[in-house]
Amino acid sequence: MSLLQLDRQEFLDEFWDYRPGEHLLIVEPTGGGKTHLMYQLLGEAMRQQPHLNVVSLMPKAADPSTVEWAAALGLRETPSWPPRRKLLSQPPAGWVLWPPHRMDLPPEQRRELVGQVLRKGVDGQYVKGSSITCVDDAHSAATMMGLNPYVEELLVNGRANGAGGWLALQKPSGSVVSGGVTSFAYSSATHIFLGRDNEERNIRRFGEIGGIDPKEVASIVRGLRLYQIGQHTVSEKLYLDLRGPYKALIGP
Ligand SMILES: Nc1ncnc2c1ncn2[C@@H]1O[C@H](COP(=O)(O)OP(=O)(O)OP(=O)(O)O)[C@@H](O)[C@H]1O
Ligand SMILES: [Mg+2]
Repeated sequence: MSLLQLDRQEFLDEFWDYRPGEHLLIVEPTGGGKTHLMYQLLGEAMRQQPHLNVVSLMPKAADPSTVEWAAALGLRETPSWPPRRKLLSQPPAGWVLWPPHRMDLPPEQRRELVGQVLRKGVDGQYVKGSSITCVDDAHSAATMMGLNPYVEELLVNGRANGAGGWLALQKPSGSVVSGGVTSFAYSSATHIFLGRDNEERNIRRFGEIGGIDPKEVASIVRGLRLYQIGQHTVSEKLYLDLRGPYKALIGP
């Protein structure tokens, strides 16, 4: 069966259509271009739905892609939630919630402090509604930082008041120590983007996506093309729009 093939800009300009309350999932191994894609989609969604409250959560200690994209989209970094906005004359287009990682503390305490802040951010967005909450590196946020119940709440009940959860996952099969991300990440997403993956345990989770044939999806994902862009190897993505369902291949 032939699949519609689009380049990235063509997809963003002509096909990407985001409605409030829809959830989104991006899955691929590390370095494949998840953060880059998530912010491209976010920029376009912010143009389509300018009234939505945008917060992007960052559980990592450092991430160059996030810094670049926050600046490009006019998102302001805040280390805590709610943000202190008294000094701002003009409200920003949205926020990147990026708690500091206290390197002087042992890992469990450090994660707990980061988790406390991120949980406030997710819950604030859920309660407020008319929002997009991006959870980058959602595996570590959900499991190591204790966000799983908060992300579940957003994914299960957010749609009704226009609160969309966007998750980027690099390790869907989870870790032995802290388990995996909630299965609602898969079952409640309207928009799913999958990068090239050959890890059997990751591929098995495609069975949690509703309304598609997981075997067909797995076989497409194993064969996605890889592009060398400068120093980086960026994967072609399989896009699943569960409203159809429709699918397409999207270039870098
Ligand atoms: N479509 C693209 N065109 C050009 N450069 C890209 C593209 N996608 C990703 N890159 C570049 O590749 C690098 C890795 O991308 P990105 O940070 O988005 O990957 P990631 O999957 O989020 O990685 P990680 O798993 O470490 O979070 C970045 O420098 C980014 O700018
Ligand atoms: Mg990333």
